Amino acid sequence: MLRAHIPTPGDPDRHAVRFARQQRGHSSFLIAWVDDLPVGAGEVLWRGCAAPEINEHYPDCPELNGLDVWPPELRSQGIGTALITAAEDLVRERGYPRIGLGVDDENPRASALYLRLGYRETGRHYLDRYQYTDPDGTVLDIADPARFLVKSLET
Ligand SMILES: CC(C)(COP(=O)(O)OP(=O)(O)OC[C@H]1O[C@@H](n2cnc3c(N)ncnc32)[C@H](O)[C@@H]1OP(=O)(O)O)[C@@H](O)C(=O)NCCC(=O)NCCS
Repeated sequence: MLRAHIPTPGDPDRHAVRFARQQRGHSSFLIAWVDDLPVGAGEVLWRGCAAPEINEHYPDCPELNGLDVWPPELRSQGIGTALITAAEDLVRERGYPRIGLGVDDENPRASALYLRLGYRETGRHYLDRYQYTDPDGTVLDIADPARFLVKSLET
């Protein structure tokens, strides 16, 4: 059902991998619903950012990863913010003082949202590495320039 409603081009097993990660206790998989339909997803990675150059500086900082609202017509209606708030609540409940996330250098609208919600620049840049499978089956290694933002959850 998730795959039918929230496509993951180039990574057809993405939702299944996320479920498996949650089953192992390494993450919490968040799904936003409207009228019984999934319209957004994200994942809290409890071990923090997968990029070692970030993780060495933020080892105890869970990361909100892979935030997506679908279809695009449903964006800018607060669904993304609801997912972010749910992630922050989970992280706070487990006693962590902060949450982090990576944002692509070419995604200024997403970073504007995060900054508006209280995330702060860390000055740490890294390459967000993942694999993308072309329709013809070719597997590409992608490395998108990104930067790491952090929000304090302490009151
Ligand atoms: C980023 C994203 C998850 C935010 O979800 P959302 O439901 O649109 O977020 P909200 O409605 O709570 O907030 C919208 C704000 O996010 C920002 N934004 C980021 N990407 C946007 C997009 N593609 N379209 C519209 N607004 C976007 C805007 O600043 C917008 O401000 P506005 O409400 O004044 O228009 C969603 O837009 C999305 O799925 N984008 C494509 C995937 C992506 O970029 N993921 C983030 C990876 S770091």
